[in-house]
Amino acid sequence: MSCMRLDPHSYTDSGQPQTRDIDLALRADFQHRMLEGEITLRFREPGGGAIDLDSRELRIDAVAALDGALLRYELAAAEPILGARLRVTLPAGARGLRIRYRTSPTASALQWLEPSQTAGKEPFLFSQCQPIHARSLAPLQDTPRIRITVGRARFKVPSRLRTLMAAAAKGREDAGGSEAVDLFEMPQPIPPYLLAFAVGDLERRELSARAAVWSERAVVDAAAYEFAEAEEMIRAAEKLFGPYEWDRYDILVMPPSFPYGGMENPRLTFVTPSVLVGDRSLVSVIAHEAAHAWTGNLVTNANANHFWLNEGFTVYAERRILEALEGRESAELHAAAGWHDLQVTLERFAARPQLTCLRTDLRGIDPDEAYSSVPYEKGYLLLRKLEETVGRPAWDAFLRSYLGRFRFQSITTDQFLEFLETELPGVAARAGALEYIDGPGVPADAPRSRSPRLDQLRRGEVEPRNPTELLVVLQSTPADAAKLRELDARWGLSQRRSLELRHNFVLLQIRAGMPGAVDAARRVLLETGRMRYLRPLYTELARRDPAEARHIYEEARAGYHSIARTVVEALLKEQGA
Ligand code: BES
Ligand code: ZN
Repeated sequence: MSCMRLDPHSYTDSGQPQTRDIDLALRADFQHRMLEGEITLRFREPGGGAIDLDSRELRIDAVAALDGALLRYELAAAEPILGARLRVTLPAGARGLRIRYRTSPTASALQWLEPSQTAGKEPFLFSQCQPIHARSLAPLQDTPRIRITVGRARFKVPSRLRTLMAAAAKGREDAGGSEAVDLFEMPQPIPPYLLAFAVGDLERRELSARAAVWSERAVVDAAAYEFAEAEEMIRAAEKLFGPYEWDRYDILVMPPSFPYGGMENPRLTFVTPSVLVGDRSLVSVIAHEAAHAWTGNLVTNANANHFWLNEGFTVYAERRILEALEGRESAELHAAAGWHDLQVTLERFAARPQLTCLRTDLRGIDPDEAYSSVPYEKGYLLLRKLEETVGRPAWDAFLRSYLGRFRFQSITTDQFLEFLETELPGVAARAGALEYIDGPGVPADAPRSRSPRLDQLRRGEVEPRNPTELLVVLQSTPADAAKLRELDARWGLSQRRSLELRHNFVLLQIRAGMPGAVDAARRVLLETGRMRYLRPLYTELARRDPAEARHIYEEARAGYHSIARTVVEALLKEQGA
């Protein structure tokens, strides 16, 4: 039997039985901040001997075969990035196993919010499993190489709250007392990082026959307005990439502590409330998460070294959707903003050029630490380069056959390259693809976005007429106090609801040493837990005033997710704060 670890971030051994399907039965104990219950793993093929599962901070109470017979297991000492290996000894011919366990109050995948931290003053719980946090929720083979269906998931929760899962809802049962059980199943095979659920006092507004938005009551109307175009986006994506394979497309607006802009949980995108700006100017986040239904969720990266296959393809798909809905100009503006983000990241990673390659070697590196805009924007540039090399019709045909060939599979960069060579021989070489994939930085001949409008905006010949145009202008504005005051007077930047605009403006204010800049930063940092805004603001603050940065963090920390805390703490340390 071959024994090999196929994923640098998982103990999963390719020579051992592979999980095909799971059941979950969990009770959410808000008082003790833990989930307790059991997971059942069913294997693809019967097997015996050792099976290694991933776990993090779990308390294991019992491990049994499917017939109930207790099994021997050994929980190894925790390793900082991977967590603790749980090795179970299976009898010959085992078809699965069942584990009773409970999670830790500090489980990295979970955030338990106090009533005071939500709009409706009710408790709230949510999960965020990507990239390697599912193991803190349940012991399993936590690698995207292994796709699982969920036969049945049961969540016992306080009956005044409701569970939503990135799965098909199967109703609710009364559990007696003040509790109820919400039931789900997930028939499409997903990588474990797409397991997701949330528990809260949630309301729904329909957007179309297959799309709805969920949130706390206080924001549900605002959310329905902001995301009214979701159905159109799915339709545009279907035209480009083929049928939507996940039945429903719902959106859940998270509390402000949600650490990402969005998360592509299947059937149920999680999205930051910071996109609720009232003018639909940040809906590219929905285009992005919806696009993941094809790129990422249907064709999935085999492990974190190939993360660009998820995000680069998705940024490319997102901009094609925007182009279909809003026109070429709008897509080019987004690409220009992305180019700017990428330049900032390349500077940040000047001392770690390996992290600026598309294909990475993350052995011994926490994928949350390696996270950056490189797989997104450099990945986008490579795909755009390939498109420009073969022309759009041939490229679009390739994309559809790529998605068809690898649907519901998890693949490596080499598998992409081999398929590209078969379908479009010689194109990778002509485009210089390997320079993007294994070379640092951005190749000199990388495609630059262009449009007459963009040129005029950059030369200051025209006034920005929407928030995206304003963002592009802001990105090319120098940190000059007089200039910033003028912009603020003209565009009210310091009062904007859009943190996309406001955080960029505040960064410039700090750099220009303007009075009030630190307090403006503080307000942003207390308003959101989205890492996209925390990272640059804390970095800039810590460079200038480490004590103040630390001080603001202490004040804001309670409102951040544990992933965000880890990231901000590492960054403050790095800056000597
Ligand atoms: N899948 C990512 C979020 C993610 C990546 C979570 C890695 C954990 C680990 C999601 O699709 C994403 O890219 N979100 C972006 C949205 C943006 C590109 C529109 C974000 O959060 O900023
Ligand atoms: Zn994404």
